[in-house]
Amino acid sequence: MNPDELKRQAAETALQHLPDGGIVGVGTGSTVNHFIDAFAQVKGRFDGAVSSSEASTERMKQLGIQVLDLNATGGLEVYVDGADEANRALHLIKGGGGALTREKIIAAASRKFVCIADESKVVDVLGTFPLPVEVIPMARSYVARELVALGGTPVLRENFVSDNGNLILDVHNLEIMEPMKMETQINQLAGVVTVGIFAHRPADLLILGTAAGPKVVEP
Ligand code: 5RP
Repeated sequence: MNPDELKRQAAETALQHLPDGGIVGVGTGSTVNHFIDAFAQVKGRFDGAVSSSEASTERMKQLGIQVLDLNATGGLEVYVDGADEANRALHLIKGGGGALTREKIIAAASRKFVCIADESKVVDVLGTFPLPVEVIPMARSYVARELVALGGTPVLRENFVSDNGNLILDVHNLEIMEPMKMETQINQLAGVVTVGIFAHRPADLLILGTAAGPKVVEP
């Protein structure tokens, strides 16, 4: 089965894990795009969505889904988003699409975080996928030097500016043995807006698309 079909399978299964109504937090990426398409079919049951990126906002608006401001909605019951890597504790690497900051905010504001992915995203140790770090532009070189000191090889994401007007450093060659510790260390660097490790606020449920059908994993 091709990976896109597995992403669709996970995304459609996520509908079964939504509350009966209310407002749903929606992430960013190709797996989430499948979720948005499926959510559009049942949108009448819900009051709308909070979006983690301009790209998801545009897709949802095109499909007639009302997009609301998190400041106006208060806390959310559920957030649905993809991941670049997930370990067995449901710690994640996110930010391949560059939306990590808004994704982390919505995950923090949500009672339940449902992660959707194809089975290739599961790893024993996070770090094979280059770790995205969103930085304030003037801090780019300073943060890069600090990331080298932590053992990584940061590479500036070319021709990319985040929805927040910032840059992304993709950090290669990290073996993230202690995700919570590294999340804290990198977040503390001056100029870092967000690191793409989601360990302090991991997913609560991981829905994997697999060749044998959808698989639901809990930590
Ligand atoms: C965007 C993300 C995405 O969830 C992550 O990159 C996974 O993307 P895809 O579903 O396209 O594989 O974190 O910032």
